[in-house]
Amino acid sequence: MDFYVITLFPEALGSYISSSIIGRAQKSGRIRIHIINPRDFVRDAHKIADLSRRGRAEVDDKPFGGGPGMVLQALPILKAVESAQKRIRGRSTIIIFSPSGAQFAQKTARNLAKHYDALILICGRYEGIDARVRKILKAKEVSIGPYVLTGGELAALAVLDVTARHVAGVLGKSESLEEHHGSHPVYTRPEILEWKSKKYRVPKILMSGDHAAIAAWRKRKGSL
Ligand code: 6GU
Repeated sequence: MDFYVITLFPEALGSYISSSIIGRAQKSGRIRIHIINPRDFVRDAHKIADLSRRGRAEVDDKPFGGGPGMVLQALPILKAVESAQKRIRGRSTIIIFSPSGAQFAQKTARNLAKHYDALILICGRYEGIDARVRKILKAKEVSIGPYVLTGGELAALAVLDVTARHVAGVLGKSESLEEHHGSHPVYTRPEILEWKSKKYRVPKILMSGDHAAIAAWRKRKGSL
């Protein structure tokens, strides 16, 4: 599966996507992550040395109608998405991250992995993205929870991570989704943990060797 992340802050993604299961999934070729910066689609932009123009070409501007903050302009984002679409073969869909979007859930990830070969994930910042982007692209608006993040990058990482876990071969047998009926409590050695003169024991049932009883206990303690 291919993930195209459209972001003005590519450096915000690096360490997470190169670590652990997601890093391994890229190395094995089960998933590919492509990061596209809308800033690269602003005129000749910062690429040419132009001493007459201070700083870099802009990707944001003041909101029409007034108000604080800046709004991400439509064209750089549309061009970034177009460049992703040119590289995509197969079924794809576009997601714009917004605190007012539909709540992302495990079943959303399952459906994305099942129905699409590529996801285009658009990260907003500041006060949001020009609303015409969503209309033109017929994008889904997605939120990862009832709180406001500084930008869509954390949301993109969450969606990418959870969705990649549903792609065949990304999880090893020991990590498989079927094995995890939601996260029940887990314990490892030592059997008796001593901390500040108190003893903390492992639930007896886990030491019983009764696999059916252990499975039932874990199901009861899990959440998903
Ligand atoms: Cl997708 N974006 C932002 N900025 N904040 C959020 C969110 C998304 N989901 C929850 N909070």
